[in-house]
Amino acid sequence: MNRGSAGAAVEHATASRPEYGNWVSTRFVLAPAAIAVVLVVLAVAAQVLRIPWLPVALLGLAVVAGLVAAYFAYARRLLAAGDGAVQARVQGLVLERLTWDGRGRALDIGCGNGPLSIALAERFPQARVTGIDFWGESWEYSRDVCESNAAGQGLSGRVTFEQASAAALPFADSSYAAVVSNLCFHEVRGVRDKREVVREALRVLEPGGAFAFQDLFRLKSAFGETDDLLAAIRGWGVASVQYADTAKSEFMPGALRLPFMVGTMGILYGRK
Ligand SMILES: C[S@@+](CC[C@H](N)C(=O)[O-])C[C@H]1O[C@@H](n2cnc3c(N)ncnc32)[C@H](O)[C@@H]1O
Repeated sequence: MNRGSAGAAVEHATASRPEYGNWVSTRFVLAPAAIAVVLVVLAVAAQVLRIPWLPVALLGLAVVAGLVAAYFAYARRLLAAGDGAVQARVQGLVLERLTWDGRGRALDIGCGNGPLSIALAERFPQARVTGIDFWGESWEYSRDVCESNAAGQGLSGRVTFEQASAAALPFADSSYAAVVSNLCFHEVRGVRDKREVVREALRVLEPGGAFAFQDLFRLKSAFGETDDLLAAIRGWGVASVQYADTAKSEFMPGALRLPFMVGTMGILYGRK
């Protein structure tokens, strides 16, 4: 998101409800749609030039690109932020699994536009919450919008946001009483074995602190076998860790259960 559009979103957030955005960014819809249009134009040109086979092949590819665009447009609609929407309910699953008394500091890793950081602060009125994100270009999120969203809920004093990478958190060991994350770890580039991102998140949690991380943990190419992941976490000295498969939550529409969406999603939770 560029500064201009971030500014517009801030105004929108201030004027009305929080602007939490959508996990399916508009480029997932616009890019395949644009490719479909180009392929149709090329197919017409190939037909005019009477090139055998090419028009049909190009039209076939255009249909595939069009279907991809339609799928992501539909997924965006299904996820759309707001009360009772799927995105908000998925974030709610993280807090449901966090067994914390709300005293002290909490960290939300890969906070996007801050929905989980804000929900955490609302649920635990004594807590101070930090949301971190690298707010890269692949996403339509920004720190400005996070701060506006928190201000809109009257939480500016207790919820703060910092730019940082989940791969190397700029915090000392044992800095937080609770650590949460929603659908960030698998996105962390530059770390091939995503278990290392989980380890980094646990590093900044104090002994006895509570954690709840939701991610695509059954994506073997990122996290390996789930049993091995749990064994590794126990090997890092974590007192208790459990896994809950959340992809099959009753509210999850079938169209979102595909492996490249949230079909491999689950929650790791427990105490360090
Ligand atoms: C699917 S979004 C989820 C955002 C937010 N947790 C939510 O529930 O709306 C993934 C987030 O991870 C963030 N992210 C990806 N790689 C990151 C990294 N290396 N460090 C910090 N944040 C990262 C992205 O910027 C994005 O905000």
